[in-house]
Amino acid sequence: MPNVADHYTSGNLLARLNAALVDDGADPAHPTIETLAPYDQFHGRGMEATEEVAGMIKVAATDHLLDVGSGIGGPARYMAHRFGCRVTGIDLTKEFCEVARHLTRLMGMESKVLFEDGDALRMPFADASFEGAYSMNVSMNIADKPALYREIRRVLKPGGWLMLSELAKGPGAPLDYPTPWAATAASSFLATPEETRAGLEAAGFDIVEFRDASEDVKAWGARSKAIIDQGGKMPHRAIPLIHGDGAMVAMRNSSRGVGEGRIVPIEVLCRRERQAK
Ligand SMILES: C[S@@+](CC[C@H](N)C(=O)[O-])C[C@H]1O[C@@H](n2cnc3c(N)ncnc32)[C@H](O)[C@@H]1O
Repeated sequence: MPNVADHYTSGNLLARLNAALVDDGADPAHPTIETLAPYDQFHGRGMEATEEVAGMIKVAATDHLLDVGSGIGGPARYMAHRFGCRVTGIDLTKEFCEVARHLTRLMGMESKVLFEDGDALRMPFADASFEGAYSMNVSMNIADKPALYREIRRVLKPGGWLMLSELAKGPGAPLDYPTPWAATAASSFLATPEETRAGLEAAGFDIVEFRDASEDVKAWGARSKAIIDQGGKMPHRAIPLIHGDGAMVAMRNSSRGVGEGRIVPIEVLCRRERQAK
């Protein structure tokens, strides 16, 4: 099976991010939530989706959250900034964790936001460590979803919540590759919305909210296109930053998949039951 971390690793991500910030007129030595937002929210709809996730969860400043597949850390820093909570991210791609730690240090947030290199299927955290967990556009790379859901459940406190913002498989023909998450079908594992729901319930989660975000993604795509057509910069530049020359075809394939219903963006809020059933 292709190595997932290789798909995301370039070896010069920080240099390219710094160059992009300079091109935007931002100071790479003093990044902010706002200047990084076009780049560090590496999922569909960027910051819009992160704000939506934050609006669906209840977080106290004393909470400790887990970000599963934390990328270069945009969602984790946003949650810590918005709620004053601690966030620990875990990600398979070492280069992403290094860039995530660097940016977090420059923003003076390193006492609140930590990143661990590691696999979401074998997390180095004790049972019942976190009040809540979220994961944005990660499970498409993970074949064994029952194991993923069980592992997240293990590290959540009883009654803790899990928020997933993911891409599910819709009806119709197979996807076109590359996509932003996989060069070929060999490392792409989308489940249907029904399989996702059943998998979470089987792992011991109660579903609180389950929504299809397809229309939001299409509307966001139309707004981005209008900005570009009027000569503006593409508002969400994380995929070009990370995938360089291959980004455009990957982005076209995934937006066509959403447009044709073959990819279904979903947002799921669920809760670990207080006691095992
Ligand atoms: C599309 S990116 C999303 C990053 C981040 N969630 C965000 O929204 O900015 C997918 C991420 O999942 C990570 N990933 C994939 N499989 C993983 C696994 N088994 N364990 C931990 N991270 C994984 C990749 O390294 C990559 O950073």
